[in-house]
Amino acid sequence: MKILVFGAKGYLGSQFLTRFPGAVASDVDIADQKEIERVLDAEKPDAVINAAGKTGKPNVDWCETHKEETLRSNVTGPLLLLDACQKRGIYMVHLSSGCIYEGDNDGKGFTEADPPNFSGSFYSRTKGWADQILRDFPVLILRLRMPFDGSQSDRNLIMKLKRYPKVLDVQNSLTSLPDFLTAAQTLIEKKKTGTYNIVNPGSISPYRVMELYREIIDPAHSFERLTLDGLPGVVKAGRSNCILSGEKLKGEGITLPHVEEAVRSALGLIRLAR
Ligand SMILES: NC(=O)c1ccc[n+]([C@@H]2O[C@H](COP(=O)([O-])OP(=O)(O)OC[C@H]3O[C@@H](n4cnc5c(N)ncnc54)[C@H](OP(=O)(O)O)[C@@H]3O)[C@@H](O)[C@H]2O)c1
Repeated sequence: MKILVFGAKGYLGSQFLTRFPGAVASDVDIADQKEIERVLDAEKPDAVINAAGKTGKPNVDWCETHKEETLRSNVTGPLLLLDACQKRGIYMVHLSSGCIYEGDNDGKGFTEADPPNFSGSFYSRTKGWADQILRDFPVLILRLRMPFDGSQSDRNLIMKLKRYPKVLDVQNSLTSLPDFLTAAQTLIEKKKTGTYNIVNPGSISPYRVMELYREIIDPAHSFERLTLDGLPGVVKAGRSNCILSGEKLKGEGITLPHVEEAVRSALGLIRLAR
């Protein structure tokens, strides 16, 4: 299957290029209808992976003050891609996020069928809008949360948390990036459509991740515990803290390691590279 990746220079887009070595990279503006139609007609892909989007630099607070750019990239672009792919019979894969939820849904975790319940940031609202529109079409929607791996990338959750003097102690679902790519590859190769939460089973708090960092990598690393009450003092936009259900993914026969085990493996790799 010939795959075209939009947003290929980004953190996740570049990982898809590595995972699918034959894939073609595109950095055209996905909110420019003529450009996407031109590249689709020139490349004639069987599948498109939309890894383009505005996540905010240095973080999602940026999206609060750049709403037009965020809306173009996170909503207008995916809708134009949807239209162009539908017209050409191209299979579309879209990267969504678990950050459209808050809480643990009474201990059950949020399933793919639950409507979004977090609107505390403009970034999350745009991700929820696109997610909820695309679900009505034969698109594969992959939802991940706070990806981490064993790399030194400053986009790796572990590397981000390492820089924070205060770390949030709230249970969350997280996604190991290598596991995400393996699951995504399996679903893409089967040309699955619909929404899939791709998170490692169990939950963990960012604070616990840093406790493991201290245990496995650097006993001298120091940080303070941040509670939900203290969060508004350190960030501008609200942050989603949530637990997603991975049952649907399991139903596809895709079983991922428990989140604490996956975090320990990633930390082991980071230690080896030091
Ligand atoms: N990383 C995460 O924690 C995470 C978690 C869940 C979901 N996601 C989703 O996964 C997708 C990729 O995220 P990422 O972490 O890889 O972000 P990223 O590193 O910022 O990559 C996104 C890429 O898309 C490009 N882009 C932005 N607007 C575009 C447009 N209109 N047309 C074409 N390219 C555009 C960006 O370029 P510029 O840098 O020039 O803007 C960047 O190269 C996003 O939709 C994000 O919401 C990410």
